[in-house]
Amino acid sequence: MQPKTTLISHPFDMIVFGGRGDLARRKLIPALYHLDRERRLPDDGRIIAVSRGAMANDAFVKMMHDDCMTYSTNGSDVQFDEVSWGRFAQRLTYLGLDATDAKSYDGLAQLLKGREDVVRAFYLATAPDLFGPIAANLKALDLVTQPSRLVLEKPLGKDLASAHEINAAVAKAFAEPQTYRIDHYLGKETVQNLMVLRFANALFEPLWNRTHIDHVQISVAETVGVGGRWKYYNESGALRDMIQNHLLQLVCLTAMEPPSTLDADMIRDEKLKVLRALQPIYAADVAQATVRGQYRAGAIDGKAVPGYLEESDAEPQSNTETFVAIKIGIDNWRWAGVPFYVRTGKRLPARSSEIVVQFKTPPHSPYPASAGTIHPNKLVMRLQPDEGIRLIMLNKGRGPGELKLHQTALDLSFAETFGGRSPDAYERLLLDVIRGRPALFMRLDELEAAWRWTDGILQGWADTALAAKPYAAGSWGPNAAISLIERDGRTWHEDDI
Ligand code: BG6
Repeated sequence: MQPKTTLISHPFDMIVFGGRGDLARRKLIPALYHLDRERRLPDDGRIIAVSRGAMANDAFVKMMHDDCMTYSTNGSDVQFDEVSWGRFAQRLTYLGLDATDAKSYDGLAQLLKGREDVVRAFYLATAPDLFGPIAANLKALDLVTQPSRLVLEKPLGKDLASAHEINAAVAKAFAEPQTYRIDHYLGKETVQNLMVLRFANALFEPLWNRTHIDHVQISVAETVGVGGRWKYYNESGALRDMIQNHLLQLVCLTAMEPPSTLDADMIRDEKLKVLRALQPIYAADVAQATVRGQYRAGAIDGKAVPGYLEESDAEPQSNTETFVAIKIGIDNWRWAGVPFYVRTGKRLPARSSEIVVQFKTPPHSPYPASAGTIHPNKLVMRLQPDEGIRLIMLNKGRGPGELKLHQTALDLSFAETFGGRSPDAYERLLLDVIRGRPALFMRLDELEAAWRWTDGILQGWADTALAAKPYAAGSWGPNAAISLIERDGRTWHEDDI
């Protein structure tokens, strides 16, 4: 059966810099293929991959064909199909180009000529030090048209100063409304659903504040290590790689005030207010409020895996963190006194991302101690895998004997409820770029506010020489991450109900 379609009517040229790189091969081209397969792209839409070095177009198309077969099914039962591939392949062109050399842009300029009124999306899937030079070359060659957009991949800097520098450089060629900063977490179905859950239901919002919520936990756990990209990762670490962007965005969507419309700036204004209300964490606080960890050898799914310092390319003295846990405070009326505990790490026992909102226990219990503990209600939003929502509550166990309270869960699985394939985050984001919908992209002031807060921690770590504590691969991080929450009389959520 043909999938239901919403064909968009915006002719476009998408120019992917880094067109033979890992991101393009694993994510961008497969996402575009899927959009086309589901007939969501207009007929007049071209994809021009540019990268350093020559390659025959046929060879490039073949490489993409194989990549799409490998990466496009996103864990679902949707199969690659040659008929739709044949149509999609017509859109692809490969161009060898040295991004730093304006003279090598001739071929690109030729290809784009005569299509000045068509949406032109320059997608920079390259190292960030190329963002400024590419933007400058595009402008110098007059390739930045009115309907042009610039899409920037992370990392957008390594601190506020470098982020500022990159953004100032691209701003010389592209206006802010033309600049689309990707945080792929914002394209995930469940992340978008977080707003629907909060703002399209009357049930939760009245309880969504310090009067009823005890605390919030956000965990993004990965089983993978950093093998293969050690050098890049070692410069970054988990704080810059995951917290500064993905986890802070999840904090924002959980904590923000309801926007009055879905207008991109309305949403981003509300997120910005959260970022600006984050309690700063400086040198005096880092030992109490943050935990850094680094994985050692261990086992994942029963298979032995090396430690961070034993991965290929590793430098044995590295103190870079592969795990972070932070207790975050938000200084506003809604959240005063409600901690947000966030944690993320590589080589943890399971790949799972979830947001847990834990409510306060009832102020008084009429039940005798023998009925059991009054456990708090929890709303668990599972972002991946098994996307869904669980509401954990107490119920009476069956039977006429002594009354016993049982923890039970209302469980909504999106796969069962909606069926079909859960699209990859990049499908939504690429479509939004073509349509000109910036709501799911980070505005400059958001990015800078996130860096300002992150810089405080980075500086605090540097000033106090806070070491990354070792943890065994396959464990939930260093013991200090458990203490971080347990010394407040709370525990990390375990899905054991
Ligand atoms: C990327 C990070 O932004 O997100 C990676 O650079 C990380 O280190 C990845 O593995 C996680 O994304 P996802 O969608 O697999 O949760």
